[in-house]
Amino acid sequence: MKTLTVALPGREYDILIQRGLLDAAGERVRAVCPRARRLFIVTDDNVAPLYLDWVEASLRGAGFETAAAVLPAGEETKCGSMLLELWERMMDFGLTRTDAVVALGGGVVGDLAGFAAATILRGVDFVQIPTTLLAQVDSSVGGKVAVDLEHGKNLAGAFWQPRLVLMDPDVLDTLPLPVFMAGMAEVLKYGCIRDGDFFDFLAARPSREALMADIEHILYTCCDIKRQVVMEDERDTGLRMILNFGHTVGHAFEKAGRYVEWSHGEAVAAGMCVAAKLGVALGVTPADVPAKIEGAAAALGLPTHISCGWNDIVEAVGLDKKSAGSQISLILLEKMGHAVAVKMEKDAVLRTLKAVYEG
Ligand code: GLY
Repeated sequence: MKTLTVALPGREYDILIQRGLLDAAGERVRAVCPRARRLFIVTDDNVAPLYLDWVEASLRGAGFETAAAVLPAGEETKCGSMLLELWERMMDFGLTRTDAVVALGGGVVGDLAGFAAATILRGVDFVQIPTTLLAQVDSSVGGKVAVDLEHGKNLAGAFWQPRLVLMDPDVLDTLPLPVFMAGMAEVLKYGCIRDGDFFDFLAARPSREALMADIEHILYTCCDIKRQVVMEDERDTGLRMILNFGHTVGHAFEKAGRYVEWSHGEAVAAGMCVAAKLGVALGVTPADVPAKIEGAAAALGLPTHISCGWNDIVEAVGLDKKSAGSQISLILLEKMGHAVAVKMEKDAVLRTLKAVYEG
């Protein structure tokens, strides 16, 4: 078993990584929720047929009473009306303040269940059991929970750390290949921003089989980087911004494709390629970095270029949460494995970005 501790004052929790860990869900949750009687599980209709009975059996075996909400899979589920429905169902179930919520699924389930846990009864414990690669390496760690609004993604949310993150790499075997590879975009990102050797390690494993052979090491390395970043900047006011490498332009790609044409991971892969070239054009990033990222992404079948209207990019730069007034903090690579935030005038960024993107 690999264990990482997210050591936040008063809200410390472990990330446990082990094949077959779903079997031990009950005892592991019992250890962190000793007083809980009831667990409300949130999952979706892709994950439920595969893992819900399994997890519920383990939780019941540890003496918990359980109820489950099986929601439609997909981003549309991460909305205010679904949150309201979950609150009501949690109350129907008789959830109390010493009970807990379990998120069994990908990022949508984790974000929504986490926000419901953060708000029901002014906050109850929650446990993340992420079942996608993207959720395992990113969204299940760090406590960002949210729902989407008409105005955009994740606009209503909170910081609400889980009590435990249970990661069973075996569940990745049932992911469709594009979903697995979309998660790999975020995995590559960790190499780009914090660990050049890890990037090389990944680049030398350009297939799902090769990556799965080392998946525990991969999950551990990504979560260790995320844990360190979150411990230093839980509230996303400084260092945590580096986790958004490739995301500004990536968000433009996602939105231009109406969130159906390109997954988040695919958009981030192409966004990282643009961000690397922008870094070169601004004299921050060494010239060989874009080709390295493009090569690693392409080898995994991820897009290295996505076409969208220039206005989509202008809008994404304007809406980016790293922007303040006329300036934006760009996340650029000073070298492979080291990201920095560089504050610049948006107009100057857009001029260079246009040349890079259309060039
Ligand atoms: N997914 C980016 C963050 O957790 O800050």
